[in-house]
Amino acid sequence: MAKKTVADVNVKGKKVLMRCDFNVPLDENRNITSDDRIVKALPTIKHILKKGGALILMSHLGRPKGVPEDAFSLRPVAERLSELLGQEVVFAADCVGPDAKAKAKALKPGQCLLLENVRFYKEETIKDKAAKEDAQLRQAKDNFAKELASMADVYVDDAFGTAHRDNASMYTVPMVMAGKPRVIGFLIEKELKFLGDTLKNPERPFVAILGGAKVSDKIGVIENLTSKVNAIVIGGAMAYTFLKSQGKQVGNSLCEDDFLDKATQLLEQAKEAGCEVVLPVDSVVAQEVKAGAANKVVGENIDAGWLGLDIGPKSRTLFAKKVKGAKTIVWNGPMGVFEMEPFDAGTKAVALAVAEATDKGAKSIIGGGDSASAVAKLGLEDRISHISTGGGASLEFLEGKKFVCLEILDEK
Ligand code: 3PG
Repeated sequence: MAKKTVADVNVKGKKVLMRCDFNVPLDENRNITSDDRIVKALPTIKHILKKGGALILMSHLGRPKGVPEDAFSLRPVAERLSELLGQEVVFAADCVGPDAKAKAKALKPGQCLLLENVRFYKEETIKDKAAKEDAQLRQAKDNFAKELASMADVYVDDAFGTAHRDNASMYTVPMVMAGKPRVIGFLIEKELKFLGDTLKNPERPFVAILGGAKVSDKIGVIENLTSKVNAIVIGGAMAYTFLKSQGKQVGNSLCEDDFLDKATQLLEQAKEAGCEVVLPVDSVVAQEVKAGAANKVVGENIDAGWLGLDIGPKSRTLFAKKVKGAKTIVWNGPMGVFEMEPFDAGTKAVALAVAEATDKGAKSIIGGGDSASAVAKLGLEDRISHISTGGGASLEFLEGKKFVCLEILDEK
């Protein structure tokens, strides 16, 4: 069932509490280095303000330990949002309490308030499973959510990047606001449509590219995708667990020995489903993980003392060929240590192949996180069909997991 969106509710004269994912990267001087997540929330924000809603925004930033920490303040976000909107964004230095309440109360239609980081309260991240087993935790999480909810008449969730969490502002706030409108914003609507439609009705060949350090992080995705895609291309350090499970030597490469049997099982499952698995045929290896470290290219086996830090040139050509032959592409995770030259070449080659396939009419989706940063760094964003704002969230979506915080929102 489709969820009601912010376009389905009357926000005129109402206090609208909207959960965003403003978890943006900051440099050491707390300057925002990518405002992508703020920019992508603008359509919903502008809609609510234009329709006469008084908008109260909330978000987390980083992973503070449940107490206020300047390094995780949302103040820079309030400033950037104000520039983007061309109007004042009032800032409350606490997300609950008398100041936040007074500022929310005073807010007029068309005005916007940003609350301080909800993760400055440990109640925000109490897991719902823990809260179910412990009455005190339940009470604490509920009370915090009630404080936030007390400021609003309407709840809007547009935090796709956080949609896989059952945090208080994502799950408990809409729970305690039962009876009031609780809807999704345009960003979540777009993400769910793009990812959902692609998985349901892909034009073939459908190729998934998976990378990153650990197989254990991607087991669910591989299990879910083998029956859906024609091929899975695997790079990054996770490839070494697969290669070792096939009897190859991986030297000192990052490898999850506890998952060797699982890797073999996944390869068998893929074979049975008729899904081709493409592993690297060569690697760029070094003796230390350091930018510019002395390196060489080796084949499928790596000697002791050396570790694979990127896919090699033959693998780049092989992966690019697979990608360029695809009509639908999903990519999550870098092919090597892409933040360090020269170990970024594999990720660059794959990013370019995805862009070229998209130029020729393929539909491409990049999960957020590292692959999205790599594409941005290469200036290829305009040549990708959809770059998700969710790293962990898009991964869990590809695993076929349900998002409990979205399930409880109003149906159309
Ligand atoms: C993200 O950046 O993936 C989201 O903002 C979620 O952050 P979290 O992993 O700290 O919950």
